Amino acid sequence: MFYNILKTLLSVTFLFVLSLQSSQAQTQLIYPEIEEKVDSLLKIMTLEEKVGQLNLHTGTWDITGPKPEGNAAERYKLLSNGGVGAMLNVVGAEATLNAQQIAVENSRLGIPLMFGYDVIHGYKTIFPVPIAEVASWDLKAAETSARIAAIEAAAAGVNWTFAPMIDVSRDARWGRIVESGSEDPFLISEMTRARVAGFQTEDLSANNTIAATAKHFAAYGFAEAGRDYNTIDVSKNTLHNMILPPFKAATDAGAATVMSAFNDIWGIPATAHDYLQNDILKNEWGFNGFIVTDWGTIRQLVPHGYSPNLRTGSKDAIIAGTDMDMESEGFQRHLADLVNNGEVDIEIVNNAVRRILRVKYLLGLFEDPYRYSDAEREENTLYTDEHRAAARDVARKSMVLMENRTNLLPLSKEVNSIAVIGTLADDKDSPIGTWRAQGEANSAVSLLEGIQNAVSKETEVHYAEGYTLAEGRKNFVSELNFPEDDGSGIEEAVEIAGNADIVIMALGEEGFQSGEGRSQVDISLKGRQLELFKKVMEVNPNVVVVLMNGRPIAEPELYENAPSLLEAWHLGSEAGNAIADVLFGDYNPSGKLPVSVPRHVGQVPIYYNHKNTGRPVPQQGDAGTVFWSHYTDESNDPQYPFGYGLSYTSFEYSDLRLSKPSMAMEEEITVSVNVTNTGERAGEEVVQFYIRDHFASTVRPVKELKGFRKISLDPGEKKSVSFTVNSNTLGFFGADEIFKAEAGIFSLMIGGNSTDLLSTEFELTE
Ligand code: BGC
Repeated sequence: MFYNILKTLLSVTFLFVLSLQSSQAQTQLIYPEIEEKVDSLLKIMTLEEKVGQLNLHTGTWDITGPKPEGNAAERYKLLSNGGVGAMLNVVGAEATLNAQQIAVENSRLGIPLMFGYDVIHGYKTIFPVPIAEVASWDLKAAETSARIAAIEAAAAGVNWTFAPMIDVSRDARWGRIVESGSEDPFLISEMTRARVAGFQTEDLSANNTIAATAKHFAAYGFAEAGRDYNTIDVSKNTLHNMILPPFKAATDAGAATVMSAFNDIWGIPATAHDYLQNDILKNEWGFNGFIVTDWGTIRQLVPHGYSPNLRTGSKDAIIAGTDMDMESEGFQRHLADLVNNGEVDIEIVNNAVRRILRVKYLLGLFEDPYRYSDAEREENTLYTDEHRAAARDVARKSMVLMENRTNLLPLSKEVNSIAVIGTLADDKDSPIGTWRAQGEANSAVSLLEGIQNAVSKETEVHYAEGYTLAEGRKNFVSELNFPEDDGSGIEEAVEIAGNADIVIMALGEEGFQSGEGRSQVDISLKGRQLELFKKVMEVNPNVVVVLMNGRPIAEPELYENAPSLLEAWHLGSEAGNAIADVLFGDYNPSGKLPVSVPRHVGQVPIYYNHKNTGRPVPQQGDAGTVFWSHYTDESNDPQYPFGYGLSYTSFEYSDLRLSKPSMAMEEEITVSVNVTNTGERAGEEVVQFYIRDHFASTVRPVKELKGFRKISLDPGEKKSVSFTVNSNTLGFFGADEIFKAEAGIFSLMIGGNSTDLLSTEFELTE
C-alpha cells in the first residue's frame, strides 16, 4: 500500500528505458531522471530510514516459513520497518518475493530490497571456475558465462552478484587464486569488462540483468605468505600498476558496486581506507555506484587493531567511504547515534544512501520490486539444455594442453581399452568447484562418464580409484581433512593400467581444496597421487594425465614425465563431456595459462611481469659466482610460463613489423605479425603482445601483456595480426604518481606465450 503512495509521490510515469551504453556507463551510472527521483526520496526519509538502506543482512531464517522468533525476530522487525537495504543468501523466486513483500508492503516508504548472492561461475548451471575461464583468454566465453549466470540468477530473484572477483595474485598458496585467476592486470581487466557486460549488459533495468560487484578493493590477492586475510604491504607503485587496473576497468565498464577487502594495506584496513575508497575510487575515478563491505569487516576493524569498538569502527568506515555494511550491524546499531552526536556529518550518510538508491532505480526495482521473483520464469530458465551446452563450450575453451610429448592425444574413440584412474575421475562433485551458488552437489558430468559417453560401444572402460582425496566437500565451513592414504588403491589401479591400451589418470585437488580460507604451504599433489602416477608409468607408457585443480600445482616430476598432460581445472556442470571433447579430438585445445606454474613453492611469488634487478645474470668475467639474483637449489624459471599452452596443431610466428620506427607521444604505431598454422588440424591460437619499457622514472617489468587476440586458423592458413600502440599502452604510474608514458626505447614482443616471442624495438619521442 505504502509502496503505491511512494510510486505516486515520485511520479508514476517512470518509464525509462535505460540504455547503459558502455561510454555512458563511464559517466558512471548517472541519469538526470534517476537523480531527481533519488533526491525527492531522500528528502522525505528519516535518519533511521536512511541508515536502514545501508544495512545488508544475510537470510537467517526460512523466509518462506512462519514468522521468526528469538534473535531472528529482531531482524524480521527491521526488515518490516525499512531497517534493511539489501539481503544476501536469500534466493529463489518464492523466498525473494516473500522478503520483498515484507520490506515493501510494511515499511513506511516501501523502498525495495536488493538481493545479493555469490554468483561466481554460474547460478545453477555451473561454468568453469574463474581461473579456468581466464585460461580461455576468450572474452566472448567469459561474457557468455556471466550472461547465463545472470539470466538464471535473475530468474531466481537475485539482482546483485558479488562478482567478478578481480584480485591480481602471484601466489598459488592463496586458495582464492581460483576466483580471480591471474597474475596479470591486463588479462584480468579484459575479462572484467567482458564479465560486467555479461552480468549487466547495456540495460541494467532489464529483468534478466543483475548488478555486478568488483571485489575485493584492494590488494586482497597480495596476502603475505599467501595466507588468506593476511596483511598486505605493497608499494603505491605496485598498487597502481598491478592491482588497481582491473578495478578501473570494472568501474569504467559501469560495474554498479565495489566490495572492499578484508585486509589492511599500509596498516589501514580496506574498509576504513580513505585513500582507496574516497580519493581513488570515488573522487579520482568518479565511481557513482556504492561500496559494500565484505562480510563483517566493520566489526573486524577491532581485531585489526584499528578501531577500539564497533561504534568507532562504524564511524571510521563511513567517513572513509564505505556505503553498505555487510553483516557487522555497525551502521545499524550506531550510525544514527553518531549522526545525532555530530560525529558523522549527515551529508556523508546522504551520499551513501543516494548511491544505493541510484542502483536500485537502475535495476528498475522502484518500477516493480517483484520483477525478479517470478516462479514460472525460474522454473523454465534454470539448468536448461541450452545453458548446459554453453557451459560445455566454455569448459572446452578453458583447458590448457601442457604436454603431448608422444602425440598420444587426441585419442581414437575406437581404442580397445581404456583404464580410467583416480578418485577425481569418478567425482561428480569436485568439478562444481568452490563458490557453487545453487549448483547441486554431485551434479557434474564426471570424467569417467564423459569418457563413457564419447567412446565406441566396443571400447572397454575400466576404472580404479587409485588414491584418496582430501575431504572438503561436505564441510565447506570447517577445516579440510587430508586423511592418510594407506595406498591400498594403488595395486588395482596399476593392474588395470597394465592391461589397457590407454590410461587416463585424473590427479589434482578436491573441489573445495582451493577457495576462501583454503591457503596451503604445500602446493604439490596431496597424498599418494605422485607415487601412483610413477607406478602406473612403469606398466604403461600411454598415460594421459588430466589435472583437476583450482590453483597451480608444483610437481616437477609429474610435468617432466607425463607423456600427455591436460590442465582441466574444475570445469563445472559439463566437465566430463568437455574433457572428453578435448581428449578425443572433437575440440582442439586453445587455452593458455593465466598464471606461471611454479616448480617449487619456494619460488612463490613467481610471475612473468617481474623486474630485472641489478643482477639478473652471473656477473661477467666472474665465472661460477653466486652473486646474482637466483636460487642455488632451484631454477628461477617457472615450470610453465604465463601464457603457455599447446594445441593439436602448431603455429609459426613470422615477420614482426612496425608501421614506423619511432613515434611521438600523441601518435600511434602499429605492430603486426604473421601467424601460420603449420600443422594438420584447424586450431585456435592466442596471439599475445607484450612490451618492455627499458628505462623509466621507476623501473618497469621485463615484460607486460598489452594485448591479445584469439584467432582460428585452418591448416596452412596464415593471418596477419596487428596491435595498436599509443601512449596509453605505454603509460604507467611513475615516480611523480601520474599515469603517463615516458619517452625512450621500448621492446614490442609478440608470440604464443610469455617466453617464446619475436621482438623488435622502437623509440617513443616527446
Ligand atoms: C567473501 C566475499 C563474499 C562474501 C559474501 C566473504 O567471505 O570474501 O567474496 O562475497 O563472503 O558471501
